[in-house]
Amino acid sequence: MSNVNPVSLIATKRDGDALSDDDLTALVDGYTEGAVPDYQMSAFLMAAYLNGLSAREAAALTEAMLASGTRIDLSDVPGTKVGKHSTGGVGDKVSPILVPLVASCGVPVAKLSGRGLGHTGGTIDKLESIPDFRTDLSVDQYRRQVADVRGVIAGQTGEVAPADKKIYALRDVTATVDSIPLIAASIMSKKLAEGNDALVLDVKCGRGAFMKTDAEARTLAETLVAIGAEHDMPVAAVMTNMDVPLGRAVGNWPEIREAIACLRGEHADTTLMKIVRGLAGEMIALGGEAETPEEGRARAREAIENGAALDRFRRLVEAQGGDPSVVEDPEIRPNSAPVAEVTAPPRAHGYVADLDALSVGQATVELGAGRQTKAAPVDPVAGLTRLKKPGDPVEPGAVLARLHASGSPDLDAVRAAVRDAYAFADAPPSTAPALKARYDTQGWTSLSEPHADPV
Ligand code: URA
Repeated sequence: MSNVNPVSLIATKRDGDALSDDDLTALVDGYTEGAVPDYQMSAFLMAAYLNGLSAREAAALTEAMLASGTRIDLSDVPGTKVGKHSTGGVGDKVSPILVPLVASCGVPVAKLSGRGLGHTGGTIDKLESIPDFRTDLSVDQYRRQVADVRGVIAGQTGEVAPADKKIYALRDVTATVDSIPLIAASIMSKKLAEGNDALVLDVKCGRGAFMKTDAEARTLAETLVAIGAEHDMPVAAVMTNMDVPLGRAVGNWPEIREAIACLRGEHADTTLMKIVRGLAGEMIALGGEAETPEEGRARAREAIENGAALDRFRRLVEAQGGDPSVVEDPEIRPNSAPVAEVTAPPRAHGYVADLDALSVGQATVELGAGRQTKAAPVDPVAGLTRLKKPGDPVEPGAVLARLHASGSPDLDAVRAAVRDAYAFADAPPSTAPALKARYDTQGWTSLSEPHADPV
C-alpha cells in the first residue's frame, strides 16, 4: 500500500504549488490500488485542472500512469516501430488507412486505440463494425501480429496503463477531461506503453476537437513532444484542422467504408488523404524508410496507387478475425443502406459555406453511433454518408447527407440538427488548410498552403 497523505497533496495543488515526482507516484499508485478513494482523486484532478501542472509534474504523472501497467516490449521485432495517435475528431478515419499504408512501406506500426468519446468517434468502435473483427488481443497476439503483418490496431487491455483507464473514467464524469496536462499525460502513458520506438501525433484543432484554438493545440503539442523527449522517444506532432468533419462519412461502418475507398485510391486528392499522406510521410521518415517526410509522402502515394496499402489492410483484417470479403465489396455488409436523407432548405442557394463538425458529431451520436452512457453498445452501421462539404454547389432540396441507423433514433430531430449544422453562401468559401503546422524538439514549421484544400 502506498504511503500517501492525499489531503496534503490536494491542498498543495489547490494552492497552486508544485508536487514532487514521489508525491504524484504515491497518489497514482494509491488510487490504482484503491487506497485513495474517488472523491480525493476527483478533488486532485479539479485542482490540477484549475491550477495546471508544470512540465515536470505532467512528465511525472505520465511516468506514474505508465508504471501502473505493462510496457509492451517489441524489441525483437525488426525495424523502427512508429506509433500514431490522434487527439480525436469527427469523421477521423485516418488510422485504419494510415496503419496498413505505413506498414506496406516497410515501417512496423503497433497501435492501441480507444473507443468513441463524447462527440468524437473511436477507432476500435469503427474497426469492430467489420463483421467478426477482434480488437481484444492479448499482448502475445499483438506482438505476433506486428512481427507477421507489420501492423496491428488493438484495444487498450487492462494490462496497459490501468491507472489512466481508471483516472480517465473519473475525469469523464467530473468535468476534468479538457485539461492540457491531463490529456497529455493520459495519451503519453498509453503511447509509451505500446512498444513503438517513435511516435507521430495528429493534434486536432477546431470546433470538433477537444482543443478549440490554435494556441491550445500548440501548447498540447509542445507538452506531448516534451514528455516524449523525457522518455527518449522521438515525437513529431502535426496540427490539423477539425472545424469541419473529415471526409464525407461519419459513423463506424460509414467511416470504414470510406477508409476502404481511400485505400483503393478513389479519394486521392481530398483533405482526408492530404492528412493521411502528411502523417504517413512523417512516420515513414521516422521509421527510416525515407530520407525526408516529402520522400515518405511520395512512397505513401505509390503504395496506394499500386494496391500495396489495400492488400496490407486486407491482411490486417484477416489477422484480427475480420471478414475480408467486405474489404473486396463493402456493399455486401448487411444493414448498410440509408434510412433517410437530409435535404437543403429553401435558403440554400449557391454553395455550402460551412459545416459545423461538433454538431455533426453530436447528430451521429444521436443516430446511435456513439454512447449516451459508458457501457452502452454502439450501432455499427449508424452515421452519415455523402455529406456535402464547404465549397460544394447546392440548391434548395438537394441532398445534404444520407442517414444510416439500424435502431430507431428520432430521425426528424437528427435531420433538423444536421440541416442546422450547415451555412450557405452565394460564392464558394476559402477553406482553411487541412495541415496547419508541425512541431518537434527543433521547433515549429508551418504547413499551411495558400490555396484552398479540396474536401
Ligand atoms: N485521449 C486520451 O487518451 N486521453 C485524454 O485525456 C483525451 C483524449
